[in-house]
Amino acid sequence: MRILFIGDIVGGIGRESVRELLPKLKRKYKPQITIANAENSAHGKGITEKIYKELLALGIDVITMGNHTWDNKDIFNFIHQAPKLVRPANFPKGVAGQGFTIINVNHQKLAVINLQGRVFMANLDDPFTVGEQLIKECRNITPHIFIDFHAETTSEKQAFAWSMDGLVSAVIGTHTHVQTNDARILPQGTAFMSDVGMTGAYDSVLGFRKEAIITKFKNQLPARHEVTDSGRKLFSACFLELDDTTGKARKIENILINEDRKLDIE
Ligand SMILES: [Fe+2]
Ligand SMILES: [Fe+2]
Repeated sequence: MRILFIGDIVGGIGRESVRELLPKLKRKYKPQITIANAENSAHGKGITEKIYKELLALGIDVITMGNHTWDNKDIFNFIHQAPKLVRPANFPKGVAGQGFTIINVNHQKLAVINLQGRVFMANLDDPFTVGEQLIKECRNITPHIFIDFHAETTSEKQAFAWSMDGLVSAVIGTHTHVQTNDARILPQGTAFMSDVGMTGAYDSVLGFRKEAIITKFKNQLPARHEVTDSGRKLFSACFLELDDTTGKARKIENILINEDRKLDIE
């Protein structure tokens, strides 16, 4: 099974980057399924129904989220009818939306799970315990399990991935918006990288207007985070190949495309 996973799409420029590059990447990697984190796709804050549909139309099959899931209130209008969208599974019981989904990929099934870390983040339920329970459920259905682990610290991400080694196909980190250079396959067959990075404005601070953020760091006053919605683009993703029988990872390759790193995908 071949999977393409795109890191946090930030704003209109991020969606534009997907529109430009996804067809080329699909020609190169021939993924059978494309997953993307879209917690910042609506001008940096959450997602709207219109953008949910736009991303699916661009060729994304499943959308994962994170701490910004609820930033745009439109989510509450459509999350009940959004089978392709998963938000962190460790939000308390009763919260709208689903924490995982199982989709058909040719004759196989893939479980896509979203979990959120707790270090320097909101105090959600324990992602390790919630993850273990979910994986038991999913493994009754399929050995192909993909986890977007949305967390701030590399230590929590590494610890989580090690705890899942051999139980899931991949643990891929999101949230920091900076791609880490540590893509690997753990000894029992779980693909891992701490953070896949973001897709949006290259000349920005994590996708947002650098001037306002510089000022905020200098004067320590609250500042509005405005998305950088024009200029040079950055595209961050990874490609995974799983064994069809065991679900174990056979390959993980990071993908990072910007003005300084062109990929041969024309
Ligand atoms: Fe993000
Ligand atoms: Fe986030």
